[in-house]
Amino acid sequence: MTAPARTLFVTTALPYANGPFHIGHIMEYIQADIWVRFQRMRGHTVHFVGADDAHGAPIMIAAEKEGLSPQAFVARIAAGRKAYLDGFHISFDHWHSTDSPENTELSQSIYRGLKANGLIDVRRIEQFFDPVKGMFLPDRYIKGECPSCGAKDQYGDSCEVCGSVYSPTELKNPYSALSGAQPELRSSDHYFFRLSDPRCQAFLREWTAGTDRHGEPRLQPEVLAKAQEWLGVGEEGGSLADWDISRDAPYFGIEIPDAPGKYFYVWLDAPIGYLASLKAHCAKRGIDFDALLADPATEQVHFIGKDIIYFHVLFWPATLKFGGHKTPDRVNVHGFITVSGEKMSKSRGTGISPLRYLEIGMNPEWLRYYIAAKLNARVEDVDFNPDDFVARVNSDLVGKYVNIASRAATFVNRFFDGKLAALAADPADPQAHRVAGLAAEVAAAYEGREFGRAIRLIMGYADEVNQYFDAHKPWELAKDPARRDALHEVCSRCLVAFHRLTILLKPILPATAARVEAFFGTPDLRWDDLGVRAGAASPARAIGRYEHLMTRVDPKTFDALFEPPQPATAGAAEIPASAAPISIDDFARIDLRIARIVAAEAVEGSDKLLRLTLDVGEGRLRNVFSGIKAAYDPARLVGRLTVLVANLAPRKMKFGVSEGMVLSASADDAGSPSGLYLLDADEGAQPGMKVR
Ligand code: MSP
Ligand code: ZN
Repeated sequence: MTAPARTLFVTTALPYANGPFHIGHIMEYIQADIWVRFQRMRGHTVHFVGADDAHGAPIMIAAEKEGLSPQAFVARIAAGRKAYLDGFHISFDHWHSTDSPENTELSQSIYRGLKANGLIDVRRIEQFFDPVKGMFLPDRYIKGECPSCGAKDQYGDSCEVCGSVYSPTELKNPYSALSGAQPELRSSDHYFFRLSDPRCQAFLREWTAGTDRHGEPRLQPEVLAKAQEWLGVGEEGGSLADWDISRDAPYFGIEIPDAPGKYFYVWLDAPIGYLASLKAHCAKRGIDFDALLADPATEQVHFIGKDIIYFHVLFWPATLKFGGHKTPDRVNVHGFITVSGEKMSKSRGTGISPLRYLEIGMNPEWLRYYIAAKLNARVEDVDFNPDDFVARVNSDLVGKYVNIASRAATFVNRFFDGKLAALAADPADPQAHRVAGLAAEVAAAYEGREFGRAIRLIMGYADEVNQYFDAHKPWELAKDPARRDALHEVCSRCLVAFHRLTILLKPILPATAARVEAFFGTPDLRWDDLGVRAGAASPARAIGRYEHLMTRVDPKTFDALFEPPQPATAGAAEIPASAAPISIDDFARIDLRIARIVAAEAVEGSDKLLRLTLDVGEGRLRNVFSGIKAAYDPARLVGRLTVLVANLAPRKMKFGVSEGMVLSASADDAGSPSGLYLLDADEGAQPGMKVR
């Protein structure tokens, strides 16, 4: 490499641990992963980490509704992460949780730093308190009548009918969305980070407008403009308000030192989770975390979506700066993914479930390629359009890129025993003049997150190679034994070009690149293997047997991909238990589905029940209790397919909520507990398939 090796600490936003990944998360990970893989190919060291954002009132409340501890609730979500990350080839070095000892220690130490700098204030504030639940209510759990238009059942912060914004205390006839009780105003001490302090204002004005060590602006222009608006740049004095960073017990979070009953607000400890994950990663690898983090040479780069800019370009750098740490080098902001022009919405059925995408056998690299093709360095939304997706994947990846290998390899295998010709410089060679300049342009595009541009450049080159192949008509050369050398040269040039195209595409298509590496016997390709430096040559010398590298997308697959609108589970009718004849319509009311048992465990305190975690192809996992403990060792069940009554009304049990029932056979109605036989499905059935 000409540039000196860099050390990068790269993160993506930490997803709330209240649900499985959606396509927006996967888009963010794909963007960051492509950038990270590019940096690694350039010989740089990258520490790429993520974590679940576990804390906060919504997660505490959701866990309680399911009869789980918040820890068990987030553990269940965490257990589902790997399938997505591996499935889409996201190369995190480590995945952590903000509910961890590392994060507790770091958050408390950073808080002490803020306090030592005189930036923490304690103030008494009045807030709504739910006397039934015995807790202060977050704004979104207070409802009432809009103070402006009188609309009923509006949230505590804004009215969905007239759009006005207010504080919860202004609502008429307020009630708690948790208990229905009328909330009381109570006062309590809250801890504030004094962002209005002139030191903070001055620091943030400088930091947001600054450049990174490469002289590039730290923030994209549109992000900087937002930050300056919030900071009141150009106005008299600072306009940044102090930030309330505490919440009262009961709260799922980290305790504030020397403040009994007070916890950090989730957005205080969440970004510190970036450092916590890095710390856990370092411990695993024997790296000195403190030294790595403090090293001025370590570049800290965050990838986030446009909805959380405020937290990342104001609160976070100020927290680090005055909490005693180095500040981030860059914050890279992306827009939102929409589907066929619409915002994601589960109820309207426009959402794409990433897990379903994988389960129905769609190639993860199709999505990586498609998203890359649509991404640039601006904060623009990206639309997922099925027709466009099919067209791009089929025409670019299969029609242009893979096509080169499949056409040229046939001849090289048949006539030349898989060996490539030694190539002399040839002015007609499509690679000769192009490759060095192309490689530099593509590298600059990857570096600057202009992935769409990188792809346009790469595909332009693939077009040239295909034209070269067509112009030399190898299929005609092959008919004439006297022209074997010419045939060998043309096909070899095309295969070397294909090898180079693979290197250029490797950040986007890591799995295909691995297969191509095996095909040429050139493992672990780096950017340098483009062979464009003076004196260097391509390492491509020979090929193995050609096996098809990528199939085309069948547009019909999309019928299975788009989630049907979620059926309402609540209020599902009860089925009579008699054996009297029923109509086909009666039967059709029972929604039987194939489910995969993802996890199974004994339920403490019950000698009958197993707790099953089921994948029913819904992009989330279900929790089902089943009375089959006497008949089955839980370990034997994991991975099995079974049949679930999917629209059985959720039932609250002592141990939690059961979301359906798995079917088993038994000899008599009483069902001797060990004589139970769980139903299963033949090989090939997929989670979510209807049973009828
Ligand atoms: N937990 C916070 C982040 C804490 S970071 C210290 C959070 N979580 S989130 O799950 O709601 O969002 C995680 C990331 O996904 C954010 O960067 C967010 O912008 C991104 N996206 C959420 N919906 C998205 C789309 N529809 N499209 C693209 N990215 C989207 O915010
Ligand atoms: Zn209103």
